[in-house]
Amino acid sequence: MARPDCPDFGDSAGAYSENGIPVVDMDVLVNGDSDQRSAAIRHLGRACEDWGFFMVINHGVPESLQGATMDACKELFSLPTEEKAEYMDAAPMDPVRVGTGFNSAVDGAKFWRDYLKMFAHPELHCPAKPANLRGTATEYATRTRGLMLELTTAISESLGLDGGRIAEALKLESCFQILVGNHYPPAGPGVGAIGLPTHSDHGLLTLLFQNGVDCLQVKRSGEWLLAKPIPGSFFVIAGDQLEIVSNGRYKAALHRALVDDEQARMSFVSLIGPCLDAVVEPIPELAREAPEGAEFRGIKYREYMEHQQSNKLKDNAALDIVRVQREILTRGLAQQLSD
Ligand code: OGA
Ligand code: NI
Repeated sequence: MARPDCPDFGDSAGAYSENGIPVVDMDVLVNGDSDQRSAAIRHLGRACEDWGFFMVINHGVPESLQGATMDACKELFSLPTEEKAEYMDAAPMDPVRVGTGFNSAVDGAKFWRDYLKMFAHPELHCPAKPANLRGTATEYATRTRGLMLELTTAISESLGLDGGRIAEALKLESCFQILVGNHYPPAGPGVGAIGLPTHSDHGLLTLLFQNGVDCLQVKRSGEWLLAKPIPGSFFVIAGDQLEIVSNGRYKAALHRALVDDEQARMSFVSLIGPCLDAVVEPIPELAREAPEGAEFRGIKYREYMEHQQSNKLKDNAALDIVRVQREILTRGLAQQLSD
């Protein structure tokens, strides 16, 4: 049965939105009979392989909770600067940060964005004001984490692994989670400002919803596509850690946020990643099957994230620090053989 907070799209195990984005029905994934589940898992696998980007419907996170979370975040942005000052000169790994751009220390605050970042798991960190932020953020973090963990189980199965395999490899029982509220003021006619430049997310999965102003673009086969949501859905974005654990079978999606000329835009992100102390590497079963073996070397997620957050945001450049460089290896081997 479809959950009441989302429209019923009938049998959507293999569905796509009007501009071609895959749509994954959580109700089928969780409650479907075994044929329906298998079809939904195959569809999810294709979505991860071909896009690294899809929408989820019938996800069970109440729309009222989404609204309350965004409202609390909006209230924080409108507080006088002195109320936010202690979070404004925070460093990339500090658990609460308020700022502009991506990392104003390196991008010169040229991106048109205000943000609030809060570490939410294993422990929720949150500004004291507005007063309702903590309660709302706690509930939102719990519900969205549950949803992403369910998706991770299905993604694991879609790779031909046990449902719990990715969770085990990444120690997801103590997964890292961050909530990010983004506010993009209108840019004014003809400015063509960028809110957030092209990047992939550092985590495993990102869940995003926005306030009805469509400015998120996703890159598919070299082309930018505007992501138009089905009402009540979430966007799901595959992150760098999914690319690493899946040994490159699933790619982290490149995306960016434009800014509307006239309307203020807000988006709210909930991201999960491995346990910060987990060493992330391709799942050995997948690396063994691959013609070239492991595509990535292992790295502690904390180190990876620190690197990604401290540098300029540029495409998926952070992945290069763990990508196995074939030519170098081959040259190294040739050198050893001739020594
Ligand atoms: C992000 C992000 C896009 C948006 O916060 O990582 O990609 O639409 N945001 O706000
Ligand atoms: Ni992103």
